[in-house]
This record gives sequence, structure tokens and C-alpha cells, in this order.
Amino acid sequence: MPSIAVKPLREDLSFGVRIVGVTQAALEDDAIRKQINALFEQHGMIVFEEMEPSSQLHVALSTVFGPLKKHPLPGVTQVDAEKELGIIDIRHVPGTGGIVEIEGERLANWLPWHFDHCYNNELNRAGVLRLIDIPPTGGMTGFADGLQLYRAFSPALRKRIEGRKVIYTLNLIYANMRFGLPKGFRELKVHEDAYKVTESGKGMPRAIHPAVWTRPNGEKVLHVSPWMAAGIELHEDAEGDALLESVCREIAEKIRPYFHKWKSTDMLIWDNWRMLHCVSGHDPQQPRRMQRTTIKGDYGLGYFENGAVGGKILEMTV
Ligand SMILES: [Fe+2]
Repeated sequence: MPSIAVKPLREDLSFGVRIVGVTQAALEDDAIRKQINALFEQHGMIVFEEMEPSSQLHVALSTVFGPLKKHPLPGVTQVDAEKELGIIDIRHVPGTGGIVEIEGERLANWLPWHFDHCYNNELNRAGVLRLIDIPPTGGMTGFADGLQLYRAFSPALRKRIEGRKVIYTLNLIYANMRFGLPKGFRELKVHEDAYKVTESGKGMPRAIHPAVWTRPNGEKVLHVSPWMAAGIELHEDAEGDALLESVCREIAEKIRPYFHKWKSTDMLIWDNWRMLHCVSGHDPQQPRRMQRTTIKGDYGLGYFENGAVGGKILEMTV
């Protein structure tokens, strides 16, 4: 009978586990599927180590957590066979855009802290990642726990943000970021696809999500994405903006993240209802190719402003 080995992600972290020994055969065992799902629900993220690096295993693992979501957005390119499987490609090709500078360091593929689909009424349950082309340094994916953030927040600020809702818009241009940009940040070359995606976002309704939400077991999650945040619902004024800026600064100060340094035999899942994630960026001269599946499943607390209905265009990679 197949079995899996479970270890803490890191001894000093309150979230995450590592699992070694997941194979196609193990994934056919119903007890193991249930065990992996329970660990995911409890710990918020799982690093799967020593995996056979194949699209088939990537998809088989993903289906443990729910049905996959497809991505019809223009600008998301990939191999047809992989697309059929529900895998999307996120890549940096040297010489192309998507370059920023942070305190003098040039970085490709950098992403600020966020949760996926914040600009949509529906969230996805999770993403499963695999890195195909790994840059020699950098290129790490960072994860932070909304349960830890809620507990670490100053009680005064927690009281001010609890019950508030945050407005999000699909806007990929960092120069337009209103809250939480890191110190010494400059956008050097916008990614070619970012303009057209941002342009399509202008015709869409704004999405609204609670800043804090409560899991069925009573645990509270601080769930604010500095990226794409436009303001606080019913408080789009100087006071509301100052509150959201304070929240984003508090996130930056209190966050205790885990940065994953990738191996080609790793796969990784995170709970998009609970965790924030980011990408550290890497030397723009180096290629990087990430593949991701997206697991369907909404927490049911988001909506579009004025009861608007969204279109399929809202499904995209971030
Ligand atoms: Fe993301």
C-alpha cells in the first residue's frame, strides 16, 4: 500500500508542510488523496518534493484538490497539449518586458504580494505550480499566511480594518499601484501583454472582497492584496486611502514569509483564500518558465460593484 512522508515546511513557520513520495500510483489511493486534502486545508500550502517532472503528474496531483479552471485570456500562451490539460505557462524570455528595479537591482518576473483573481468576484481555490526553467539565482515564489497576519496585526489597526471591504481593479501596470509599493521601486519596462490586459480591465466592473474573513472553524484571515487595490468600499477618500496604506505597511512589517527556492522536481500548492503570494524576481538576462494549474472553488464573499456581472475575460494568470 503506498504511503507518503509528511514534514513541516520549516520548524519556525506556522503554516505549510512538505510531502515526499507522491506518485501516480499514490494518487490513485483514495485514503492518500483525502490525507493530502486535509493537510492542505490545515496548513495552507504544501511543497511536494521528489516528484517526477511531468505535465501528467502535475495535472493528476491538481485534481486531488478539485476541478481545474481554464484560462481564455488573450496573452496567455502555451503548448496546445498542455493547454488541453489545463496548464498555463508564465515565462520570462530575456530581451522582453516585465522589468522592474528595486533599490538598484534589476529584476524580471517580479510580482508584489497578492492573492489571485482579486479583480474578479469569484476567487480560485488554489494554484499548483511547477518551475520548468529555473534561473540560477532569485526567481523564488514567496508565501505568507493570512492567519498569521491577522494575529500579528496591531489590535488598533485590526479593529479599524475588520468589517471593511477592499475594492480591486484589473491593473497590471505597477506605476498605477496606489498602495504598498516597496521602497526604491521603479518600473523599467512594462511587459508587452500588461498594457492590453490593463486596457481590457478598464471596461470591467470593480471587484470587492472583505479585508478580513472568518473560516468555518472560526479562524480569521487577513486577506488584503496590495497589488490592484483601488480603495476601501464606501470610504474612497483621504481617510480611507490612509487606512489602506497603513494596512499595506503593516502587512510588509508583520509578514513572516516563506520563499521557495525551486528544484525541477518540486510541485507546490497554496490556499488562495488564505495565503498571499509574490515572486522575488531574477536577473532579466536569465529565462524563467513557470507552469501552473488553477483549482476551481470560491469562498463566496466577493462581488462586483453595483451587482454587475463579469465576463470570461476575467480569468487570467495572476
Ligand atoms: Fe499570483
